[in-house]
Amino acid sequence: MEDYLIYLDNAATTWPKPRQILDQMVEHFSAMGVSPGRGSYDAAMVASDFINQTRAKLARFFGAPDPNRVIFTANATDSLNIALLGILKPGDHVITTRLEHNSVLRPLYHLQKNKIITCSIVNFDQQGFIDPQDIKDAIRPETKLVVMTHASNVLGTIQPVNQVGAMCKAQGIDLVVDASQSAGQIPVDIGEMNASALVFTGHKSLYGPPGIGGLVLHPALEIDSTRFGGTGIDSSSLVHTREFPHRLEAGTHNLMGIMGLSLAMDYLLEKGISTFHGQEMRLIEKLYQGLFAIRGIELYGGSNITPDRHLAVLSANLESFNPADIGAILDGDFGIAVRVGLHCAPLVHETLGTGNRGAVRFSLGIFNSSVDIDITIAAMEQIAQ
Ligand code: ALA
Repeated sequence: MEDYLIYLDNAATTWPKPRQILDQMVEHFSAMGVSPGRGSYDAAMVASDFINQTRAKLARFFGAPDPNRVIFTANATDSLNIALLGILKPGDHVITTRLEHNSVLRPLYHLQKNKIITCSIVNFDQQGFIDPQDIKDAIRPETKLVVMTHASNVLGTIQPVNQVGAMCKAQGIDLVVDASQSAGQIPVDIGEMNASALVFTGHKSLYGPPGIGGLVLHPALEIDSTRFGGTGIDSSSLVHTREFPHRLEAGTHNLMGIMGLSLAMDYLLEKGISTFHGQEMRLIEKLYQGLFAIRGIELYGGSNITPDRHLAVLSANLESFNPADIGAILDGDFGIAVRVGLHCAPLVHETLGTGNRGAVRFSLGIFNSSVDIDITIAAMEQIAQ
């Protein structure tokens, strides 16, 4: 690896993590890394308390009324599988969008292919936004659920989920929001969104480690377990407990991951999420302006890069270049890490007309500087020449 890497792949995972979080994780795990919720000895109780306190912290963070409806999972894909397979029943109709990641599209396709559900997919406009009216128009008598992203992982556009949620509530339809890209970057509140469930991952803008994510549920949501196993309670019964959070959590918890997530949230809340978002948005605006001036550049998702409508993510192509080649040159010649290709969101690229080759995605994090952006613009200018 180069001495200095300009890391612009924070939409995939944020890196580096603040050093103090990693150090504190090791300290916490060394002190209480036992199996939580199982043993009755002191250390197991302390570990169990830590998990419950983290549930409460997450419930406050996401505006959820009941900490027991905060479910720990491995990541956002895991959460989406638990939610979609646990909520949907034969005959249900689902509405989703062309902005979705494969973590939404593939579970839905699996259910559709097995003739369990039917599915409608609404398009986004040229600026990268869903129109809530299009979702409303797709509603059928058997529509059970809308599942959509809070922010596109390719375009960075923040979607009008509050409006969609209000409409879903009025129609008696559940809304599942994929907040993988937005959680930790902008406010995400299950109540304001009128969502039935929120999905998040720990390793992106929450600055936790990989391997920990979650599912936050509205207490009125009906959801069944699709996985069964040890919970540490009701051990004599062969029936998996219906009590939350155990209904949806089976097996030993990822305590190291939960510790990392909890410590990372403390870090973010102390520094101020909106401060980081503002800082990143100033840099992405600068990157946008710098790239816009390059001959042959194509920028996707519109020009209105404002903090209330965008995350610090943008995708581009240089006429006649394959994005994979641009990624290789940026990495090899300039020490700049970006993600190229389809970004696990094939329908976004199909709509943009980049379905066969994808694009080059630049995504910023809290450690990027103005110098990083200057070097990236200069590198892209050099490649274009
Ligand atoms: N979903 C992640 C990304 O956008 C992995 O790159």
